[in-house]
Amino acid sequence: MQKPTFYVTTPIYYPNSSPHIGTAYTTIGADTVSRYKRMRGYDVWFLTGTDENAQKIARTAEANGVPPKEYVDGVVDKFQELWRLLDISNDDFIRTTEERHKVVVQDIFQRLYDQGDIYKSEYQGWYCTPCETFWTENKLKDGKCPNPDCGREVELLKEESYFFKMSKYQDQLLQHIEAHPDFIQPVSRRNEMISFIKGGLEDLCVSRTTFKWGIPVPFDPKHVVYVWLDALINYISALGWGQGDEKFKKYWPAVHLMGKDIVRFHAVIWPIILLALGVELPKTVYGHGWFLSREGGKISKSRGNVQDAFELIRLYGSDAIRYFLLKEMQAGSDGYYSEDALVERINSDLANDYGNLLSRTTAMLEKYRQGVVPAAVAPAALDREIAAAAAAAKKEVEDCLDRLDFSNALVAIWRFIGRANKYVDESAPWALAKDPGQAAQLDTVLYTLTESLRIVTILCSPFMPGVPAKVWSQLGITDRTELHTWDGATWGGLLPGVKINRGQALFPRIEEPKEGVTGMDKVSQAAAVPKEVDVVAAEEIAEEISLDDFARLDLRVAKIIAAEKVEKADKLLKLEVELGQERRTVVSGIAKHYSPEELVGKSVVLVANLKPVKLRGILSQGMILAASHEDKLEALTVSHDLPSGARVK
Ligand code: ME8
Ligand code: MG
Repeated sequence: MQKPTFYVTTPIYYPNSSPHIGTAYTTIGADTVSRYKRMRGYDVWFLTGTDENAQKIARTAEANGVPPKEYVDGVVDKFQELWRLLDISNDDFIRTTEERHKVVVQDIFQRLYDQGDIYKSEYQGWYCTPCETFWTENKLKDGKCPNPDCGREVELLKEESYFFKMSKYQDQLLQHIEAHPDFIQPVSRRNEMISFIKGGLEDLCVSRTTFKWGIPVPFDPKHVVYVWLDALINYISALGWGQGDEKFKKYWPAVHLMGKDIVRFHAVIWPIILLALGVELPKTVYGHGWFLSREGGKISKSRGNVQDAFELIRLYGSDAIRYFLLKEMQAGSDGYYSEDALVERINSDLANDYGNLLSRTTAMLEKYRQGVVPAAVAPAALDREIAAAAAAAKKEVEDCLDRLDFSNALVAIWRFIGRANKYVDESAPWALAKDPGQAAQLDTVLYTLTESLRIVTILCSPFMPGVPAKVWSQLGITDRTELHTWDGATWGGLLPGVKINRGQALFPRIEEPKEGVTGMDKVSQAAAVPKEVDVVAAEEIAEEISLDDFARLDLRVAKIIAAEKVEKADKLLKLEVELGQERRTVVSGIAKHYSPEELVGKSVVLVANLKPVKLRGILSQGMILAASHEDKLEALTVSHDLPSGARVK
């Protein structure tokens, strides 16, 4: 049987400058729904690309002193690199400077002209180059661009132009919108569009003569095609419309994802082009909100408040950024971006909730069942409630993703994770473990937790594609691909007897040394060290601990092999240390007290069993001990007679 198809697109972005976290949101959303649909058995086509024939591109290139094509080639590389780093699984990437696009645009322009929908006249009015939009005098706001996100200077144009008879199709479009409630989403945008169209459509200027960069009008090459007409066509030129049509027949119509800034182009101009061509209209035009910076205002290239997406990925990883963005933008509203909020989400939702469920479950499997998943032999009401909650979460994720509500899908998954964590406390496996008579109950709890993790991980996989492999490895089911599928996310799929491999924290907590911190003591505090490990000044001796407590610390001699400064962190050094046969990286807050050179070759004392943490994007595996007083600090060293790896007691 032939698979059902699903075609999803992002806007094609202007490559006038590097992509940023706002741009990334739409692409991550489209990727998530693509991955989800593939898991549901759809034959998916996922298109993204770049919108290169804009006047503003020509201007930016000129300002940079390079030919436009050369300029965009450089920026397009950055877009593609970002999508690779974010695990974007697009099937195609269209550039509007490609020949395959140009032929379709020229074909369409010619057809519309031949059938009388495009005619020649003169444009007199205003143009906003940042928005690539024509405005009539009466629409301007204080003489500036009326787009609420823009407000910039407009230019007066008076040039010979071709026009597209939009007005002719106005009623047909309204009827379509009214008959198809899902065509424009969410509903607030739909209402806006209906009243916009009812206000009356003017014919659209679709060519320019005052610059050369763009696709020439085939029968009048001193004109170039207006960039929005050109750009919208990408959604069908990429499928080879009119050029054999094979892909087009297979995948069209599309679900178009975009920000609310450009819904008008997609919900009015684009469907009218298609109506004029006699092509079926898109399934959905979905306009999400914007990511705003904390100071307010849309994150945008032109406002210069963009976050360096590459640096953020290096520091926090693609999965965490995907999670944060998808969670933070609630359907129909705007979202706020700040690095603090990102770190907070990583530490609470990813490290504490999800990561901790995995680490406590695998720890208990090891401790109580030698790492082998037992059978759920005696499920009681509480255990069955967890199984039912898993099924409910799955259903809710499906419903949410079917309406592109990424945020609430994640809420549903995290509600279930929260339920599972609470179940650990309610069922108290550590108490069951003390009583041999409760072995069957303990087995059931351990099975229930492992199966919950497996289902959570399947549900998370469209959102965070890098995570499942790590969990499958820890659960010992890497090769059992039938246990990773969407259909396989049903309770009881996991058979007892699987041997787990407990591993590192799924999401290490992110701890940044606070401003103004000097010396080792504060840094160790920032590294989430349990209280009893803190190196404290003599006058504030900490609370007493037992010898057993002390024995939990694994202190070792470590030899420093290499040391270097951590970029943009003037207190931190990145150390490579040798620990017997092992090599580790340790980030240490001693840069104010030691130069990298003087540390190399020293043998220091390392807390070897400290939970790894990420500092400035570097995974730090342990902490070196140092004594400090006021602004003096000295790392504890031992003589070279002691080999690295030797225990310190
Ligand atoms: O408009 N929050 O390209 P563009 C959320 N070339 N999404 C954001 C965002 C933010 N702060 N900033 C950008 C164009 N986006 C045209 C499109 S399509 C035929 C032509 C995303 O580079 C969002 O999807 O200005 C928005 O619609 C798009 O980037 C605009 O990208
Ligand atoms: Mg824009």
